[in-house]
Amino acid sequence: MTDAFFTLYQGLEREGPGEAADVAWVADLLNLPADARICDAGCGSGADVPALLMAAPQGRVTAVDSHKPFIDELLVRVDADPRVTAYAGSMAKLKGPFDLIWSAGALYFLGVEKGLKSWRPALAKGGAVAFSEPCFFTDTPRDAARAFWDGYQTTDQAGIGARVRAAGYQTLATRRISDAAWQAYCRPLQARIDALRPGADRELSAVLDASQAEIDTQKRVGDETGYLMSVVRPA
Ligand SMILES: C[S@@+](CC[C@H](N)C(=O)[O-])C[C@H]1O[C@@H](n2cnc3c(N)ncnc32)[C@H](O)[C@@H]1O
Repeated sequence: MTDAFFTLYQGLEREGPGEAADVAWVADLLNLPADARICDAGCGSGADVPALLMAAPQGRVTAVDSHKPFIDELLVRVDADPRVTAYAGSMAKLKGPFDLIWSAGALYFLGVEKGLKSWRPALAKGGAVAFSEPCFFTDTPRDAARAFWDGYQTTDQAGIGARVRAAGYQTLATRRISDAAWQAYCRPLQARIDALRPGADRELSAVLDASQAEIDTQKRVGDETGYLMSVVRPA
C-alpha cells in the first residue's frame, strides 16, 4: 500500500463495505459459541473487531493485516482489550485453531480457492470461514461493472460456489453486502477525498481520482456488482 493510499484511508472507519449486521448474521447462522476463537484475516484497521467481540464475548479475536499502520490503528480502536491479538503479517499463513475465520473484502487478494485451501489447517474441528467477495449479480454486467474490479476474475454467485467447492468446502449460506453498508463506507470516503483535494500532490491526486471513480461507478452499477458474503465449511 502506498503512502498516498494510506493518507486517504487513515482514520476512516473501514477500508471496504460491511456492517455489524453481517457479523451478527454469521454468528447466528453458525450458532457461534460465546468463547469462540476468531481470526479476522485482512482486518484493515479493525472495523469488524468490535462486532466480532460482541458475537463471542468470552472469546478471542486474532487480527492480521499486511499493512502495519492499520494494525496500529486497530490497537488504538480496541484500547488494549486483552481478548484481541493483532499483528502485521500475511493472512496466507494463519496459525489456528479458529472456530471462525472472518474475512471482509480481503480473501480475493489470495484468490478464493488458494486462500480457502491455505486456511483449512487453521480451522478447528467444525470451524467455518465467512468471507465477502466481489460478485456479479446479473448475467450481463456492463463494461463499467466489469472494470470496477480492476482486472480481478470476478464471477457470479454460482462461480464463487464453484471456487468454494474446488477448495474442498461447502457453502452453508450467502448474503449480499447491503446498499446501506456501501453508503456507510462511501460517505466518509467522499468527505475525505473532498478534504484532501486542495493541495494534493501528483501521487495523492491520482489516488483520489481513482477512489472518486470507484465511488461514482459503484453508484451507477451497484445493482450489477458488489460483494457477496459466503459462509463455508470444509466438506
Ligand atoms: C479492502 S481492505 C478490507 C479491510 C477490512 N476487512 C474492512 O472491511 O474494513 C483489504 C485488506 O486486506 C489486506 N491484505 C491484502 N493482502 C493481504 C495479505 N496477503 N495478508 C494480510 N492482509 C492482506 C490489506 O492490507 C487491506 O487492509
